[in-house]
Amino acid sequence: MTAKLIDGKQISQHIIEQVALRVAARRDRGKAAPGLAVIRVGEDAASRIYVRNKLKACERSGVNSYSHEVPASTSQSDLVALINRLNSDPAVDGILVQLPLPGHIDGDAVTDRIDPSKDVDGFHPYNIGRLMLGLAGLRPCTPRGVMTLLQCSGIEIDGQDAVILGRSNIVGRPMALELLHAGATITVCHSRTRELPEKVANADLIVAALGKPRFVQGSWVKTGAIVIDVGINRLDDGSLVGDVDFEAARQRAAWITPVPGGVGPMTVASLLENTLQAAENRDPDAS
Ligand code: GUN
Repeated sequence: MTAKLIDGKQISQHIIEQVALRVAARRDRGKAAPGLAVIRVGEDAASRIYVRNKLKACERSGVNSYSHEVPASTSQSDLVALINRLNSDPAVDGILVQLPLPGHIDGDAVTDRIDPSKDVDGFHPYNIGRLMLGLAGLRPCTPRGVMTLLQCSGIEIDGQDAVILGRSNIVGRPMALELLHAGATITVCHSRTRELPEKVANADLIVAALGKPRFVQGSWVKTGAIVIDVGINRLDDGSLVGDVDFEAARQRAAWITPVPGGVGPMTVASLLENTLQAAENRDPDAS
């Protein structure tokens, strides 16, 4: 079996076009374009690229972006003061603080200060709580993007055995909740998990989000499985690879996401959807 590719680049472009149409329709109704504030602290090389992609996507979809680049030496209180200002700025519908943050800043405390109605990353305890309960809210972008990929590919999740590798607050945990709500049976594996290859081998759906290049071996993948690779790892030769040994896994899987061009662009597309959603929720006539 050779897997069908799930083309995240193409699907994300479609989502961004849909957001652009909805933003244009909003403006035709006399409403302001949604506004997204993006804060980057310090000089992490990967964050620089991710933020640049997010700002470019704003431009393509007609979302106003406000970029705040602050030095790594910024204090926690200065960062919180910036968030407070953005919380009360009516032009800003969404606030994103790119992670990771420098070690002297308490990321949880920073997330906690973002107005939950502007928390387009979906990381605030209020929004995570709503996700846990299956209530509408702003949902973490990468898991939301994975759900969109599965949906757009016509992949049925109900009743599937899903194995998630990684238990981060950004991907693994919210991914488990999304798939649980969609009717999958979930196993979340992490650094303490025993007999990991056996657990992966039982999975109908594998989501790899552990940040280790080519960790998931092709021989672990059940024939006909769906493989979603969230990892983006840069090798010493400069190339990008995922958390899955792509060439080996694609010989056994039914569906697989490439790296790059799989989940990565979907995180950005989901961010725009969340920003538009935040703007619509904040409209005076929203119910
Ligand atoms: N760093 C890696 N992924 C993300 C994300 O989805 N949002 C933010 N804010 N930072 C990240």
